[in-house]
Amino acid sequence: FEVDASYRPLKGRHVLVTAGPTWEAIDPVRYIANRSSGKQGFAIAAAAAALGAKVTLVAGPVSLRTPEGVTRVDVESAEDMAKAVKRALPADAAVMVAAVADWRPKEYRGEKIKKRGSAPPALMLTENPDILTNLAAGKDRPELVIGFAAETDDVLANAKQKRKRKAADWIVANDVSGDVMGGDDNLVHIVSESGVETLDQMPKRDVAMALAERIAATLKAEAA
Ligand code: CTP
Ligand code: CA
Repeated sequence: FEVDASYRPLKGRHVLVTAGPTWEAIDPVRYIANRSSGKQGFAIAAAAAALGAKVTLVAGPVSLRTPEGVTRVDVESAEDMAKAVKRALPADAAVMVAAVADWRPKEYRGEKIKKRGSAPPALMLTENPDILTNLAAGKDRPELVIGFAAETDDVLANAKQKRKRKAADWIVANDVSGDVMGGDDNLVHIVSESGVETLDQMPKRDVAMALAERIAATLKAEAA
């Protein structure tokens, strides 16, 4: 991002961002994951840093370069991501863009599971911690807690419910029924207590800057 050097509305702020998928290991060679390129989360980290924030980016396994001025913590599983998020606190704003796997295998098998001509193994799953919900309910709650929701149906209704259920300030909802996953464009709705703001479809980096500017304006308003 090229931003005028005098424009640093997030100076003095700590912004925590999660991005990418998580990998939940089944055995040494296999895992369960969500589809996520990490592009939108990395772009938000970059935009917040360009506006002067100190940024901690907790990243699942992605092949993306660390944005300039951003402190990156690499993690693999949801449980590791939860720990890294706790360690990164306190923060003024948290933007949880990661596509966290909802479930992990109940047991990790230390040796590769072999085919050996027998029936396919049954995978027992258990639920992962909800990092966003725990953050929003925790004692170190950031002033502004923002979740993302990738939905294929009833985008706004689902997003509104999620905002309440997770006690997030905003849910940024995107419709992923098209080719958003892995693509360079995004169309998002910002769902907050005051209603829904729908941004034009635009490159993920422009979505990122729009969000970073709204975060700066909101933190400023709350501090005032
Ligand atoms: N999230 C999280 N930890 C989880 C699951 C989700 O922090 N274990 C966060 C995501 O990073 C995102 C928000 O919660 O910011 C919404 O994720 P989503 O998968 O849409 O919500 P779920 O509650 O898992 O609902 P769903 O059944 O639709 O997957
Ligand atoms: Ca989920």
